[in-house]
Amino acid sequence: ETTGKGEYRHFMLKEIFEQPSVIGDTLNSFINPATREITLPADLVEMVAKASRLTLVACGTAFYACHVAKYWFEQIARIPVEIDVASEFRYREAPMPEGGVALFVSQSGETLDTLEALRYCKRQGQKIVSIVNTIESTIERESDMVLHTLAGPEIGVASTKAFTTQLTTLACLVLAAAAKKGAIDAKTVGAMSDSLRQLPSLVNSVLQDTAVTIEKLSREIAEARDVLYLGRGAMYPIALEGALKLKEISYIHAEGYAAGEMKHGPIALIDDKVPVVVLAPHDKLFEKTASNVQETIARGGQVLLFTDRDGLTQLGRGCRWSVRMPVSDAFVAPILYVIPVQLLAYHVAVAKGTDVDQPRNLAKSVTVE
Ligand code: G6P
Repeated sequence: ETTGKGEYRHFMLKEIFEQPSVIGDTLNSFINPATREITLPADLVEMVAKASRLTLVACGTAFYACHVAKYWFEQIARIPVEIDVASEFRYREAPMPEGGVALFVSQSGETLDTLEALRYCKRQGQKIVSIVNTIESTIERESDMVLHTLAGPEIGVASTKAFTTQLTTLACLVLAAAAKKGAIDAKTVGAMSDSLRQLPSLVNSVLQDTAVTIEKLSREIAEARDVLYLGRGAMYPIALEGALKLKEISYIHAEGYAAGEMKHGPIALIDDKVPVVVLAPHDKLFEKTASNVQETIARGGQVLLFTDRDGLTQLGRGCRWSVRMPVSDAFVAPILYVIPVQLLAYHVAVAKGTDVDQPRNLAKSVTVE
């Protein structure tokens, strides 16, 4: 059933719970399950692998998918990436590299700012690739090459399953381009593609294991006036997305920050009234984030920590709330850690009694300036 809410109270909740299945569908369209090979069009992969620079442009949640992809393209495929929100990019007259590739991400394929940014890049001689969810959209028609996310119709204004399928698609493209360039060896490609293929079951276990805890603690978070979200590396854009989700549907003021940037401003906001949501898998950057968490706790900050087993052992005790996440490959962690922040925004909004699927002042697709 794609048109009704089924057993769910809101479309947003239904769409959150559809993620294991739509991530699986999207993966199956890009990875051959028998050979584990990425089956993206060879000309697209070659074009991306050869690009002197990629420019990734989008709006809202789709922009945060680009932001995560910047970390992936640069670290894994060693391709320099520029990112921007479409409303800025289209007017800033950016010089564009010869042989450059511009990539646009959009659920609707109709967002006007994204479309105008695309037209600008075309005039600058860039090859245009788009990642869209809606079939036969304007953005699709004006692109040289298109990849479809298989999220199915997304009704809730706050994007959830479109985001995780955008990330899934971008991850496949990164892997294929990295393999083509020889930036990673065949064994690593195989292992990373296995990590991707484990996502549907991992996302499912996050949904099953964290939903009740998050619903409970969300009643306390719903009392807050401001909430901060912190993350490092590819968890930074997930912190931004978490803050966006919360403000969109609960109307609580929220900010996402790079954890290391806290000391340059936001730390002044910390007191015992401000929940600080920290996204910190036990990875290479964990120790750095842990020291930011200690600084927050020392100032009375109420930390909600999302981390895995080792992270909890090390840091769980000082935090007001903590949620245990499964251990995962760092590559796929952003796709896992966005799930609990979606649930958090949803349950806070329900606790506040807002119109979750149709938040005030927002539209699903913005086709005006
Ligand atoms: C609107 C929606 C957001 C979405 C953004 C970009 O603001 O409310 O959820 O992320 O547009 O939309 P697109 O269709 O281009 O992904």
